[in-house]
Amino acid sequence: MTKKVAINWDQLGFDYIKTDYRYLSFWKDGQWDDGVMTEDNVLHLGEAAPCLHYGQQCFEGLKAYRTKAGEIQLFRVDQNAKRFQDSCQRLLMPVIPEETFIKACLDVVKANEAYIPPYGTGGSLYIRPMMIGVGNCVAVKPASEYIFTVFCMPVGAYFKGGLTPVNFMVSDYDRAACNGTGQQKVGGNYAASMLAHEIAVQKGYADCIYLDPTTHTKIEEVGAANFFGITRDNRFVTPNSPSILPSITKYSLLYLAEHVLGMAVSEEDVFIDELDQFAEAGACGTAAVITPIGGIFHHNRLHVFYSETAVGPVTKKLYDTLTAIQLGDLAGPEGWITKL
Ligand SMILES: Cc1ncc(COP(=O)(O)O)c(C=O)c1O
Repeated sequence: MTKKVAINWDQLGFDYIKTDYRYLSFWKDGQWDDGVMTEDNVLHLGEAAPCLHYGQQCFEGLKAYRTKAGEIQLFRVDQNAKRFQDSCQRLLMPVIPEETFIKACLDVVKANEAYIPPYGTGGSLYIRPMMIGVGNCVAVKPASEYIFTVFCMPVGAYFKGGLTPVNFMVSDYDRAACNGTGQQKVGGNYAASMLAHEIAVQKGYADCIYLDPTTHTKIEEVGAANFFGITRDNRFVTPNSPSILPSITKYSLLYLAEHVLGMAVSEEDVFIDELDQFAEAGACGTAAVITPIGGIFHHNRLHVFYSETAVGPVTKKLYDTLTAIQLGDLAGPEGWITKL
């Protein structure tokens, strides 16, 4: 019988909660060990570990869901495995085989099954795989040893009372360089974004919009999420750029917009001065799935899309379709769901 945990599922946010087990594996002398499940949530590393000084680390974020029938399923874990490999390669870290990554995620979910929020609460189990460069080394060069670990925690519904639009402001800061690491999920990108985020919040916005680092004319990211817009002639448009994170949610929405909603779709330049073309806009990512964008503040003016208070019909349909697949209420395309 599954153990019971004392969690108020309706009160869950995105705060750290220690669950019972995590996966832990070490790389040394050119190979990974067998990996173990451990109850110890403290990592032990040397003071000169390169991850601490030079940011040699990367991570992923994905979710496991409880279906109506009580089953447990992961959404597109293979895509996170591939993106993780890409991040590792970019930072000269050893690659984790896709099967090892997927098995570690599945094992961690299974071992912490009691923490998966029940169907209907809007909650899910957030899974955080990560790799860090360890082994004492003060010179700027790749670490000699690595830790790969996967932990998880229950998280609540992002929108408790339905999809609510929020406003964003365009930042003067860049989160990533043109040929830098914007395409990879590495900690340095996030450290670089905290000040811009803080300024946006202080000014009363949910987060900031980053423009392309070269010309500052095109939308790149919406905080830690990708941008999409629904044009007035019903096309699903999302930015095409070498410095944004390839969002798995974004690619899922591109597919659903085309194959389920029958829309034309495109990855193309989205100029900040051409927002009028969009009837609706949103930010997408694992955390919220979709955050409707009420308006974007730029050059002393708030450009409002559909509404500052209500979600647009196409955004709503996309959200409903994707969440139905994630929760097992609707069959997804081949390979999107991995059942435990
Ligand atoms: C910078 C950034 N962009 C976009 C996303 C959305 O990506 P995904 O849909 O794979 O979660 C995330 C979140 O992971 C992110 O951190």
